[in-house]
Amino acid sequence: MPRLRSLAPLAVAALTTAAVVGPLTSSAQVAEPAAAAPEVTAAPSAEPGEAIVDDLLVIGHRGASEYRPEHTLAAYELAARMGADFIEPDLVSTKDGVLVDRHEPEISGTTDVAQHPEFADRRATKTIDGVVYDGWFTEDFTLAELKTLRAVERLPLLRQESTTFDGLYQVPTLDEVLALRARLSRELHREIGVYVETKHPTYFDGLGLSLEEPLAQDLVQARFDRRRFSVVVQSFETTNLRQIADAGVDVPLVQLLSGAGAPADLVAAGDPRTYADLVTPAGLDWIATYADGIGPDKSMVIPLQADGTLGRPSPLVDAAHAEGLVVHPYTFRPENQFLPADHDLGADPADFGRALAELQAFWEAGVDGVFTDAPDIGVESRRLFLEAEDASA
Ligand code: G3P
Ligand code: CA
Repeated sequence: MPRLRSLAPLAVAALTTAAVVGPLTSSAQVAEPAAAAPEVTAAPSAEPGEAIVDDLLVIGHRGASEYRPEHTLAAYELAARMGADFIEPDLVSTKDGVLVDRHEPEISGTTDVAQHPEFADRRATKTIDGVVYDGWFTEDFTLAELKTLRAVERLPLLRQESTTFDGLYQVPTLDEVLALRARLSRELHREIGVYVETKHPTYFDGLGLSLEEPLAQDLVQARFDRRRFSVVVQSFETTNLRQIADAGVDVPLVQLLSGAGAPADLVAAGDPRTYADLVTPAGLDWIATYADGIGPDKSMVIPLQADGTLGRPSPLVDAAHAEGLVVHPYTFRPENQFLPADHDLGADPADFGRALAELQAFWEAGVDGVFTDAPDIGVESRRLFLEAEDASA
């Protein structure tokens, strides 16, 4: 089974010459309230850096976003305490060029910005990668301004318990996540990895707020060395990943793949290739020239049948492995709403269904890691899978 390639320490010079990076700290930054102490679940032992990428990975998708508002330090901390190998910051830019953690530039669904009358005139309608959004956008706020907002639960109807924590936490910077990672790694006696996704890089390039240079600078500031801890860079676009690879920035790269559409950078360049083209043998062969793995929508690994039940594995895992690419599908969520129809328990979309069984099917299909909103369930599913493998050996 392939694993992420062993790579040399980060070399950033080629990426740090292209842009001026905005201030990385602000007097408006204040300490985050700590997450409520959860039960600590031990993760598999791993040597710093190397071994953690040799294991089957549990990636805390946007943190433990099942239980805390996503992309907050509280969500990341809980993910680590639940045993996630990696925490997953999605990154966008502020007006002053600071990388902050949001799933998209538009922040009305995940912060209380609409309750701030001082920002009412920032509301705008914008088109990002062909999709029209109405709301408030990170690139129109300085870091100091963003820091006055507080995070809220994106899915309050499904995740009512998480709304308990609405209004408590700031939008974190990547720097703050890296500092949290270091602190938790010391406390938990294992190195927590950071699985970074730069969001809408072509869009931000167009605004003069390129994401890759501040990413490299933040990693330098965190004294990143892959022998100490793991950083993976992932993207739904291809050009930024290829630039990182070409620049000699030696971090593992993962090409995200959507079940529909095409990478925004290819669209912008007039390249007709779609995500469907990228999962053909020729597409995977091309990805393997610059990336170490793929992050497909989980339905591309095991498609649903017409009745909504879980089908049979597609050839994708074997085809990717044949190219030396690891496979980390997204996103595993335990609610009935997100499970295959034959994995539901009861009729309430917010209730948890047979999430362990769904994950079990994916480990058995040969995936090398999973993005999950509920790292506790991901860790337990991996334990069960490995236990069953040992028993059958
Ligand atoms: O990065 C893996 C997964 O997070 C991709 O989906 O949209 O949640 O960033 P998204
Ligand atoms: Ca992501």
